[in-house]
Amino acid sequence: MSAPVHPSAAPAGSVSEQGLLRRVVLASGNAGKLREMQALLAPTGIELVAQGTLGVPDAPEPYATFLENALTKARHASRLTGLPGLADDSGVCVSALGGAPGVRSARYACETDEAPRSDAANNARLIEALTGAPDRSAYFYCVLVLVRSADDPQPVVADGLWHGEIVAEPRGAGGFGYDPHFLVAGMGRTAAQLDAATKNQFSHRAQAMRDLMARLVQARLIADRTGS
Ligand code: IMP
Repeated sequence: MSAPVHPSAAPAGSVSEQGLLRRVVLASGNAGKLREMQALLAPTGIELVAQGTLGVPDAPEPYATFLENALTKARHASRLTGLPGLADDSGVCVSALGGAPGVRSARYACETDEAPRSDAANNARLIEALTGAPDRSAYFYCVLVLVRSADDPQPVVADGLWHGEIVAEPRGAGGFGYDPHFLVAGMGRTAAQLDAATKNQFSHRAQAMRDLMARLVQARLIADRTGS
């Protein structure tokens, strides 16, 4: 899945002469994701540009799997910008709810796909759905997909998973989305109580990004900084 593609297959200006990624469009309008991913990618020297700043609207996410949604979003952003595209599809999966909200996490409280997204409404619906539930276990899941171009036949794919449980009372002011209700396993703090650097060390997105970076090194799309 991550064998090298000849640099000439990538759009001009987005890769170095050596074929290394330089400028990548992030297929998301989520400011929380952008912040975290820019920090995670900083060591690679890649400039991560939010699709909204390039006039790219959100792609539809009609699929039942994170992977299909991420691939669709990455191709959409790449097609409209000519840049390599990176997409994150992620969500919180709660055992007592059969894995919901899952791929619907961003729109859990929305009646229709057109309705505006709201973290507060999503959290309220989640806490209500778990009223009286003895099992509060949950995990965050993240899949990352990078395409060199819209029709890249070899998307680079990575994922990560972060265990915890859902608490009824919100705690902390950091992060975004479900973070104030996600008590991280073994840490005694919610994700919103972690500073940005700590969340970016342990989170589902951090784990997926480490996996992705190893694959990008293997594919010779970023430099190997380990010296090996
Ligand atoms: P997506 O844009 O379809 O991938 O939706 C992701 C949604 O999952 C976000 O809008 C959040 O509701 C939730 N989510 C994903 N990652 C996180 C996280 O790190 N913290 C809190 N909520 C998250």
